[in-house]
Amino acid sequence: MTAFRDLRHYVDNLTARLGQDEVKVVRGADWDLEIGCITELGAEAEGPALMFDDIPGYPSGFRVFTNFMGTPARTAVALGLPPDTPKLDIVRAWQGMSRRLEPTPPVEVATGPVLENVLEDDKVDLTAFPTPRWHDGDGGRYIGTACMVLARDPDTGWVNAGTYRACVQGRDRLSLWMLGNRHARAIATKYWQRGKPCPIAVVVGQDPILSTAAAMAAPAGVSEYDLAGGLRGAPVEVLRLASGIPVPAHAEIVIEGEMPPLDEESVLEGPFGEWTGYYTHSGQETVVRVRRILHRDDPIILGAPPMIPTVPAGDQAVPLYSASVTWEHLESSGVQNVRGVWAYARQLMMVVSIEQTGAGDAMHALLAAAGRKRSGGMERYFVVVDEDIDITDINHVLWAIFTRVDPGRSVHLLRTPTTAIDPRLSPERRAAGDMTMGIVLIDACKPFAWKDQYPRANRFSDAYRTEIRERWRAALPL
Ligand SMILES: Cc1cc2nc3c(=O)[nH]c(=O)nc-3n(C[C@H](O)[C@H](O)[C@H](O)COP(=O)(O)O)c2cc1C
Repeated sequence: MTAFRDLRHYVDNLTARLGQDEVKVVRGADWDLEIGCITELGAEAEGPALMFDDIPGYPSGFRVFTNFMGTPARTAVALGLPPDTPKLDIVRAWQGMSRRLEPTPPVEVATGPVLENVLEDDKVDLTAFPTPRWHDGDGGRYIGTACMVLARDPDTGWVNAGTYRACVQGRDRLSLWMLGNRHARAIATKYWQRGKPCPIAVVVGQDPILSTAAAMAAPAGVSEYDLAGGLRGAPVEVLRLASGIPVPAHAEIVIEGEMPPLDEESVLEGPFGEWTGYYTHSGQETVVRVRRILHRDDPIILGAPPMIPTVPAGDQAVPLYSASVTWEHLESSGVQNVRGVWAYARQLMMVVSIEQTGAGDAMHALLAAAGRKRSGGMERYFVVVDEDIDITDINHVLWAIFTRVDPGRSVHLLRTPTTAIDPRLSPERRAAGDMTMGIVLIDACKPFAWKDQYPRANRFSDAYRTEIRERWRAALPL
């Protein structure tokens, strides 16, 4: 694992390992929708990472960086693997890293580049940054899309990091949208119960491992800093703020402030184009009263605007992480011979491949995969296939579903809790508090009892395809 010092170190690595074209500098795009739409088109085409500069109305050098991790090659670089690592091996490597992970606490340093500019008092101005309006239905400009929101437990000193969307609500106001079970909300409640606002720091622009760790579901009491340190094999260097919150010394931007209870101050937040591909949530939400902004010279806003979840390069490492956690869960549930797990549309469809050893294996795998679904998760379709299916290729998965499923017998419906942003929750069910949704378990394996008599596939073997590619390489682009 490469311990990237910061976002810039990662960007340099992308170009060093994948070539100069891997990071495309785009000059002159407008913060109002243009950056968002270019980002979406680029992600759909699985294009390069995009560094927007010379954004009209803002100083040259104040940048926005998007599509930073979406492709398998960029994800591999982010995890310190060779860029051409096969997709399933990335998931497997992640699983190995998670298994071996030794939490490594951050180290405090006295100074760092994030202190190059310190804006205090009347100099505090969030509008100084070229924050994009990402989608045309957004209710504001979201500076925090792949951000790290830090809060410190007043009793234990535990520092929690979470990714919660953050919208600029004025020069010194930021809104945060945290779902009810988020750790920062639990920490804030402790302050509020004591009649105090909750100190908060929002980090905008950090290396990909910190970004990923912030979105990981670490248990209460475990700091995502320690996980990030363990994953990358070196502690994160932090500066301690007056509030006691440690922030990455090499962050691009740190927004420091305090969050009063909702009944003291709140603001209309949303809507925002969410990862499901829809706008759902908007309401009175928590506010950060910004007291100080720290930023590097020529700061970079790290942006990960949500897109429809089937866009291949549209997001960070969420699908790979979900797949590796599900794989781990299957193995610890005793599912035999798991050959791979892959997630589509973030995690809306989880596909497992197994080498069947008995008639119950497919159902066991389906139930175990569905059992990993976290309360409030939105995994919807669970599919199990045989080992001959390349689960990283959607066409292979569809072929298995279309030709190995007997719809009356191989498809099972269950009902589990869903999340508030599920677009399929009807207004009536939402109002009644019935936050449940159907899930589908699909056994797309050859029936074990007559597996060996299943008609033979007419696709050439991988070995012969490779041989033909080699032999005909010069004459034909295969
Ligand atoms: C790109 C991205 C954006 C997210 N945005 C939000 C959000 O706006 N609100 C929220 O409650 N969770 C959001 N999440 C999910 C949380 O970050 C995630 O559940 C995390 O584990 C929460 O941390 P916590 O358990 O320490 O509270 C987002 C995740 C990602 C990857």
